[in-house]
Amino acid sequence: MNMMKRLLNILFAGLLSAVAATSQAGTNRVTNEPDSVYLFSYSHRDGGGGLRFAWSADESKWFSVADGFSYVNSDFGPWGRAKKMFKPHLMQSRTDGRWHCVWSATETGKALAYVSSSDLQKWGRQSYFAPSDLDKFVPEDVYPTLAKTVLINGVEQDGWVQKVAYNTVGQLIRYAEHKRYRALQNAERMAQDPVRFVGLKPLQATVTVKAEAGKKISDHLIGIFFEDINYAADGGLYAELIQNRDFEYAPADRGNDRNWNSTHSWALADAGSATLNIETFSPLHPNNPHYAVLEVRSAPGAGLVNSGFDGIAVKEGARYDFSLFGKVLEGKGGKVVVKLLDTNGAVIGQSSVTISSKDWKQQKTVVTATADVPVASLAIYPQVAGKYALDMISLFPQETFKGRKNGLRVDLAQTLADLHPRFIRFPGGCVAHGDGVDNIYDWKGSIGPLESRKPLRNLWGYHQTRGLGYFEYFQYCEDIGAEPLPVLAAGVPCQNSGTCAHHSTDELTCMGQQGGIPMEEMDKYIQDVLDLIEYANGDARRTKWGKMRAEAGHPKPFNLKFIGIGNEDMITDVFEERFTLIYNAVREKHPEITVIGTVGPFYEGTDYEEGWELATHLGVPMVDEHYYVEPGWLIHNQDYYDRYDRNKPKVYLGEYASHVSGRHNNIETALTEALYLTSVERNGDVVSMTSYAPLLAKEGHTQWNPDLIYFNNTEVKPTVSYYVQQMYGQHSGSEYLPSVVSLDNQPDAVRKRVGVSVVKDKARGDYIVKLVNLLPVKVASRIRLEGVSLVDPSATKTLLTGEPQSKDAKPVTSPFEIGGEEFSYEMPPYSFTVIRIGQGEKK
Ligand code: AHR
Repeated sequence: MNMMKRLLNILFAGLLSAVAATSQAGTNRVTNEPDSVYLFSYSHRDGGGGLRFAWSADESKWFSVADGFSYVNSDFGPWGRAKKMFKPHLMQSRTDGRWHCVWSATETGKALAYVSSSDLQKWGRQSYFAPSDLDKFVPEDVYPTLAKTVLINGVEQDGWVQKVAYNTVGQLIRYAEHKRYRALQNAERMAQDPVRFVGLKPLQATVTVKAEAGKKISDHLIGIFFEDINYAADGGLYAELIQNRDFEYAPADRGNDRNWNSTHSWALADAGSATLNIETFSPLHPNNPHYAVLEVRSAPGAGLVNSGFDGIAVKEGARYDFSLFGKVLEGKGGKVVVKLLDTNGAVIGQSSVTISSKDWKQQKTVVTATADVPVASLAIYPQVAGKYALDMISLFPQETFKGRKNGLRVDLAQTLADLHPRFIRFPGGCVAHGDGVDNIYDWKGSIGPLESRKPLRNLWGYHQTRGLGYFEYFQYCEDIGAEPLPVLAAGVPCQNSGTCAHHSTDELTCMGQQGGIPMEEMDKYIQDVLDLIEYANGDARRTKWGKMRAEAGHPKPFNLKFIGIGNEDMITDVFEERFTLIYNAVREKHPEITVIGTVGPFYEGTDYEEGWELATHLGVPMVDEHYYVEPGWLIHNQDYYDRYDRNKPKVYLGEYASHVSGRHNNIETALTEALYLTSVERNGDVVSMTSYAPLLAKEGHTQWNPDLIYFNNTEVKPTVSYYVQQMYGQHSGSEYLPSVVSLDNQPDAVRKRVGVSVVKDKARGDYIVKLVNLLPVKVASRIRLEGVSLVDPSATKTLLTGEPQSKDAKPVTSPFEIGGEEFSYEMPPYSFTVIRIGQGEKK
């Protein structure tokens, strides 16, 4: 058929025959229901929502199917402003009964979308294409459909009519009801407990632990996921105190905010006798093209002041390394005084450097603070009039985590280390795959001398200096005994990328899909991935990248074992092609590396299913799952991993958290995470790794809540969820010991709220009993360790408890007398307890 005519027919015209397709109608007649009815498929005229249905026996009175439930939504374009479905046309193939839906993904109709389904419930991957490609997507052999405008609940809707078995409508209704039932379960909250558990008396429980039936579980179960979101890196973990030290802030970092530019955080002192300009001629390094030109007309007095990240917090007696790159553009140059100032302008530390070279030269000095000041600023005052070019102006505390140069803020780095994480995933998240192809995190731009690193727009709306780059990530992992787990983009940026891939202006690639690195550039990209492995593990003398690592100060390999490819990407053809190439190349060249694939951003749905299928087909050893869910989901899905096929890829639960409205964490969210983790430990043979997300958030600069740890310039504020992670991290085991929990005759709602996990830490010979009680009453438990003969029955108990709304509960550890292999413990209402029984074999 002529392509244009076909397009018109499919999307707009409705000229097809209205002949009822009786062959579509089944004969599954129930009581007095009709055999066949008319099915009307539509979406809202404004494109909002997804594909909905109505049915009619006579084509005049229409009934909404499941009150307008959306059976498939468009996934085209960035979150928030796109993802629209205009004029969907649903068709069924005569040959195999498969359903095909085509819609316009943009109002103009320049980008079309296609998806298919066997049952109108589960839908495959979506394709997006230009109208000229329509013929590739729609089969010829479809039953007739008729374009119509009908009244549904008093509102006119445009869509397509076809005849189907009434059974099809019944199935659609049952599917939506099931989804709604699950949604009700997910929405269960502790605030309803007084009603849900009215009259519930304290419970008795027996926990019988079968030590002899133990199974090996992952020894990497609890880790951390570090992403530069919420100012986690610059202004956070990375100890640099000067904001915009490289003068590379740009309006594009922050939605074209004109105040977010090269002068951000900088101001002139004595502005009447000095000017500040930003120049790019002959920069310090092409990757760092902007620098400041300070013209001082009358000296001393005029200078340049940096206000830090919400101020610069300094401690009395602490020493700070000051450095800058400078050159003299006009005049002779000379001494430049460096001062720390408090909010009144009083000097609380002073030193000086000299700038007299006509070429870029680094100058360094040390400033010692003479007072504790939480909100200081740094000022530099040339003592001789002239014109100075300045770049990479840095103030770094000498006290960093483990004393590393260019290192990490001690309190934050220690708080993370105290979780006892077995691995660190970095640098994202969304930051890893980036906002558009040009924003993909290139690891090579994050190593080497600081002035040569390539700053990057952070898709969370700010700027990454990448002073905290791959070398520093690897080093931190080593410093805290965690496996490094870098994540690299699978050749595709975020599916919600709001920018045009490679500056395309075409509506299809610009508005919408993630696109991908052009295939002709993929060899180079794959080489970058392989080079990373060489950078981490390659010989310091014989390999190019191993040598670079050695030059950076680490001749020994970092012993990289894992690498993530992709981050919750949409599983499209574009993705599959690129992921497969990267995966095959890594597997061939580095079979020793465990590649972790990706299966979308949810615990179900198309990307999850397609991602799992692809990973299973390719034999990817592990996949990264993400799900941010309501507390009720965690309560009602404790069997999620019990269902998993043990022969398929292992799981890295790379991002998860319990979310309630208001997006805060408290005892309610933390305990549901603790409860769910008992089921994860039980499935520690299939779940190899987990990490809560996100990790860090600076107060006043959060793009995402809740986070595990909040902080400001002087304080670190771990949340209740942090303590749950810590209790799991510090008390992990290598063997899971199954247990039978008997609760005196209680309904499911009660049973599901008591969680038990018993593991053995074989290296130390300890038994660890984790008990979670999500009920408003105590649970008096009798715990029997069958098949265990304790050499030393001494134990400690760590208890985290509080009212569901409590945000500041903290765990308390105390000695606990168990006396022998059978002991009693009363779980307080709303509590998480870890009992660690030592065997006297501690190393
Ligand atoms: O953890 C915050 C974000 O959530 C991550 O960047 C992304 O992977 C997910 O959508």
